Amino acid sequence: MRIVSGIQPTGNLHLGNYLGAIRNWVRMQDEYSAKGAECLYFLADLHAISMPHSPAELASNTREMVAALVSCGIDPDKSILFNQAQVPAHAELQWLLNGTARMGWLNRMTQWKDKAGKNREGASVALFTYPVLQAADILLYQGTHVPVGDDQKQHLELARDLAQKFNNDFCPEDAPLFTLPEPIIPPEAARIMSLRDGTAKMSKSDPSDMSRINLTDDADAIMQKVKKAKTDPEPLPATVEGLAGRPEANNLVGIYAAMVGLAPAAVLAEFEGKGFGQFKPALGELLVEKLSPMAARYRELREDREALDAILCKGALNARDLAAPTLTRAYEALGLVRG
Ligand code: TYM
Repeated sequence: MRIVSGIQPTGNLHLGNYLGAIRNWVRMQDEYSAKGAECLYFLADLHAISMPHSPAELASNTREMVAALVSCGIDPDKSILFNQAQVPAHAELQWLLNGTARMGWLNRMTQWKDKAGKNREGASVALFTYPVLQAADILLYQGTHVPVGDDQKQHLELARDLAQKFNNDFCPEDAPLFTLPEPIIPPEAARIMSLRDGTAKMSKSDPSDMSRINLTDDADAIMQKVKKAKTDPEPLPATVEGLAGRPEANNLVGIYAAMVGLAPAAVLAEFEGKGFGQFKPALGELLVEKLSPMAARYRELREDREALDAILCKGALNARDLAAPTLTRAYEALGLVRG
């Protein structure tokens, strides 16, 4: 078993990242590293250059994201924590996989369609081939389990298709090179939605900061954002079916449930018939209680640039070692002579 996942260092860690992915990273690290499985968690800084960006911000966001992950419970002694840019094998394997990936596959990716929008001619080539790099990230380490939110499911399917086609085209039937990875998506928090629009996912690219709870938000900001969150005038229903057609109510109940580790039905049993005037303060306080210890650790850690760089350096050394055998076999499978 080998656990692999990544996050783009393009801004703050928000509640969607935390509940959808990072909390599972920590759980899997704690459970499986004790049993000898390797957990590799990385900052997808190479992915971050697929959109217009500021180089200075990317560098500081990369270090800040390390601090955020460690504050959430990623332990650099249990997991291999690194950034792609320090492990050139990611970019190398991407190129090798570009020969196998098909234009049609990439053209169907919803992230490509959403982010390129109507201006495909003006979008970067990196945005188009983004899922091939993501596949390389996982296949390079023979990743078996990939903890992600629901929005990454399609990219994971592409990684499996790529692995399968490469194995079929270039490997003997009894010695496939790549392992087919499984996405691990938490059912209770697969898709955390924006606080301003229950039909759009919570995202760091939303221009309104009121749409998301950031790990860096203080208690006042959290209470304020929850208070201002969009809702409807109805009280909370008795059953989950009663949330149908009420995306904002559904989202807030879902967040509450994910934070306390209960099913939404159990939350409704407690708040049935109550209005948002009562539910929102309870949700705000819950978020403050659960997030503030992480936020406090984060504020301390982010100041220690030397320690953060040391974590990345150690992680990169380990990742390079683990990546080397698969990369060599991929070159060989393709008939590339390397002396
Ligand atoms: P990124 O940086 O957008 O998000 C990091 C993780 O957070 C999850 N996530 C959410 N989950 C639930 N609700 C939300 N609103 C929400 N927003 C984000 C994402 O699903 C993700 O798991 N392409 C990836 C990074 C990546 C990667 C990889 C992931 C690069 N290579 C290899 C896994 C394996 C991305 O941009 O995630």
